[in-house]
Amino acid sequence: MTSLWMDTAHLPATSEWEDGASYDVVVLGAGLTGLATAYLLARRGVSVAVLEARTVGAVTTGGTTGKVSLLQGTSLSGIRRLAGEDAVRTYLEANRAGQDWLRQELGEGEVLQTRDAWTYAVTGAGRRRAAEEWSACTAAGLPVEAVAPGDSGLPFTTVAALRLADQAQVHAGLLLAHLLTGVLAAGGRVVEGVRATGMDKELPGAVQTTRGPVRAGRVVLATGTPFLDRTLYFARLAPSRSYGSAYRVPGEIPAGMYLSADTPSRSLRTAPTSAGELLVVGGSSHPVGVDDSRGRGEKDLVEELDAWARSHFEGAQRTHRWSAQDYRSPDGIPYVGPAGGSDRLLVATGFNKWGMTNASAAALALVGYVVGDVPSWASLLSGRGAGAGRAAEVARLNALVAGRLASGLVGAELSSAPATVPEGCGVVGRDGLRPVAVSCVGGVTRRVSGRCSHLGGVLTWNDAELTWDCPLHGSRFAPDGTVLEGPATGDLPAV
Ligand SMILES: Cc1cc2nc3c(=O)[nH]c(=O)nc-3n(C[C@H](O)[C@H](O)[C@H](O)COP(=O)(O)OP(=O)(O)OC[C@H]3O[C@@H](n4cnc5c(N)ncnc54)[C@H](O)[C@@H]3O)c2cc1C
Ligand code: FES
Repeated sequence: MTSLWMDTAHLPATSEWEDGASYDVVVLGAGLTGLATAYLLARRGVSVAVLEARTVGAVTTGGTTGKVSLLQGTSLSGIRRLAGEDAVRTYLEANRAGQDWLRQELGEGEVLQTRDAWTYAVTGAGRRRAAEEWSACTAAGLPVEAVAPGDSGLPFTTVAALRLADQAQVHAGLLLAHLLTGVLAAGGRVVEGVRATGMDKELPGAVQTTRGPVRAGRVVLATGTPFLDRTLYFARLAPSRSYGSAYRVPGEIPAGMYLSADTPSRSLRTAPTSAGELLVVGGSSHPVGVDDSRGRGEKDLVEELDAWARSHFEGAQRTHRWSAQDYRSPDGIPYVGPAGGSDRLLVATGFNKWGMTNASAAALALVGYVVGDVPSWASLLSGRGAGAGRAAEVARLNALVAGRLASGLVGAELSSAPATVPEGCGVVGRDGLRPVAVSCVGGVTRRVSGRCSHLGGVLTWNDAELTWDCPLHGSRFAPDGTVLEGPATGDLPAV
């Protein structure tokens, strides 16, 4: 399940852990947000360390599709509906700043290539969504063209097509390598295998980690979803997982970056590699730990996406497949800025699968908070000026989460935990009064707590990735209970 990007990039060695170290800024998380922030800070002479729970790029950035685009599927019409037209304009300003920065930083070449971005539709519902997107884009002054569907360049029939010229795509692994090299060269430190588990209420203060404490003047939570429960971000974010695959395809591949406005979504782009150009296909989003809207589980979704790619690109041979998740805020606008009322604790989350531009913008804003030069567009991202749509969406999200907790508990109550399960399977059942998660992977049967170590959600088995996933706020665990991602910081205890 290693992505094309992480499989084909060589990352430099990271730094050693130092007991009792002290830094001006401690950045938690070595994805695009954390590394870009640390890179910019280190180059300004700030003493900075990045602490990464797993390895650089191990979570969302390593599993991205890597489109660096201002045309973002149908996102802008969603933001317009929930937060208004001014918010769309400011959101675009922030994303443009992020995009410009990445382009300046990387230039044109192996890491980044200029491409047109497309939103297309193959269904009537998709066509209506594409029309709303065109209206939102034009109202915000984004020069998106409505193109005759037959001119989309895709090898199948479409009923609508929008194009925005002069966008870009990146190789996420090479991007991470570029930033990591830059942080280390500028005197910053990046330490892998260190999970932050808590921190002092007042900063400067201590950050507690699985390797011991470090001292920090400021802390940046660049952990995807903020792990620190007191910030309560987990209750305002919807985690969504989707799938990616790369293919070697005989013949020509459309050169643009495409995203459908239909359900299930389909995403396409090319990827130049030393072995020739590959086709990257993505899509089939669903809430983490929950089947998609048509009742399909993870394995079915992977197979469906693969069948779709093979049916539209004859002779396609899969070289890689992977999966990742990102977090959506209630109005689709990221949260970036001070958390808990102090600009010593900074946060960046809610990129809604558009983090290439949004995380880059977040890094520019976060550095602005540290050095006292905050870009004007950052006030939208820090939550000020948010639309009224946000409150209703938060209430809807929390009702969904409460429903998932209740149905998980009832489901676990109804059957007792089996002694064993077939290979590749996992089942949660009752053992006495507690839910127990039983799985079998590689011939090893394991029994761990069936309740998430974050806030007790009842876990579900992900049959594509062989993991335990939490339907409440998106934490995920290996079969032996090791925490992989999400707001949880603790492993699942063995039973
Ligand atoms: C399938 C998919 C496709 C996408 N495609 C696109 C696209 O085409 N274009 C686009 O713009 N965006 C896209 N995105 C979104 C984009 O990839 C993400 O928004 C972006 O990579 C997020 O970066 P990040 O640094 O915030 O998070 P991450 O890359 O997840 O980095 C967070 C890091 O924090 C670490 N961490 C977590 N908790 C702790 C802790 N307690 N202590 C220390 N470290 C911790 C994690 O291990 C992780 O490495 C896509 C997302 C997905 C899921
Ligand atoms: S992620 Fe919050 S309860 Fe599981």
